[in-house]
Amino acid sequence: MIISKAERLNSVKEYYFSSKLRQIKELNDKGMDILNMAIGSPDLAPHETVVETLTQGAINKGIHGYQSYKGIDTLREAISSYYQSAYDVSFDPKQEILPLMGSKEGITHITQAFINPGDTVLIPDPGYPTYSSVSELAGAKTEVYDLLEDNNYQLNIESIEKMDLSKVKLMWINFPHMPTGAEPDMEVIRALIKLAKAHKFLIINDNPYSRILIDKPFSIFQVEGAEDVALELNSLSKSHNMAGWRLGWVCGKSSYIETILGIKSNADSGMFYPLQMAAAKALLLGEEWFRELNEQYKKRQSLIFKLFDLLECTYNPEQVGLFVWARIPDHIANVEELVDDLIFNAEVFITPGKIFGKNGERYLRASLCSNEQNIDLALTRIKAFKIAQKEKEEAI
Ligand SMILES: Cc1ncc(COP(=O)(O)O)c(C=O)c1O
Repeated sequence: MIISKAERLNSVKEYYFSSKLRQIKELNDKGMDILNMAIGSPDLAPHETVVETLTQGAINKGIHGYQSYKGIDTLREAISSYYQSAYDVSFDPKQEILPLMGSKEGITHITQAFINPGDTVLIPDPGYPTYSSVSELAGAKTEVYDLLEDNNYQLNIESIEKMDLSKVKLMWINFPHMPTGAEPDMEVIRALIKLAKAHKFLIINDNPYSRILIDKPFSIFQVEGAEDVALELNSLSKSHNMAGWRLGWVCGKSSYIETILGIKSNADSGMFYPLQMAAAKALLLGEEWFRELNEQYKKRQSLIFKLFDLLECTYNPEQVGLFVWARIPDHIANVEELVDDLIFNAEVFITPGKIFGKNGERYLRASLCSNEQNIDLALTRIKAFKIAQKEKEEAI
């Protein structure tokens, strides 16, 4: 390479799935048929009226130009009424909501908008890897806080209080939590908000999973006083099967939203008008949409539990969200070996928990984004794999 890359790139590695999926594609190209149970990209379709709004909208003339940096009024108003009906939280659609191209985009913009080099960012372990990579790209120091099974994956406020919080500017939380499927304890969130006020840091709740297998959706703004020190990211990716459409938003106090717009308005030039109209349509679908969606996910979840039973893993049957998080048995020494064994000998790809941090080392994460037929096939293959493994052990 004649031109050297920027030094900031030395702080990040290629995303695990980017390289692993390349390996899996190569194996499939050579004749294998590996079932991908790893990725949280919904296989189900968006509601037909949503697709219709996009396709019909795209036919119109005069809507193909740049759109407002703040999103169209119709979309912000739909987000506001969705927040009211789903979470019982009110936002001014004019000033307290900023549509985004997915919540992942928001993680970058929020970091760029608030972080100076040398600031500290608190991130969960286990947690979504983007929080740390984006922070490090911005020159921040990341400190992890533990989410442990022994503590039902809740924040341990006492141990966070003992950390050096003097340089903490941002803290990422993500409830309902990916990958563990934990829902938050409201008392703990209340205590966290108190802590953030005392130490002057901003909490961002990354909230894309709040509608999956959950009866009462959580928002950090359900806690009184949260607006002074919190923002929330949300997204249509998982809740409305629209991951590829890239539609999300950030909501919170208008001054924080203005600050983020300072970055966003320099990064893109708005979203395609029919896409925003379709997003508004999706947000106004009502509860029947979620009832049907969750019926399917419930069936898939119980099949994935069976899959983990076969692998002698343990898990919380009450977990929520788009994945199943399971602890591998103590007699398995090497999780990576198990993941590769499953790829090569059962043709099933399940995510190793360690990519979410050191606290994920003894865990696996399987996605609910495979249909029942494929999960059944994975079950059959893993059964055969276990039998072959047993026969091999007995022959020794
Ligand atoms: C915890 C978490 N946050 C954010 C995202 C990104 O979602 P979006 O598609 O809205 O950018 C994901 C995607 O998998 C995720 O798991």
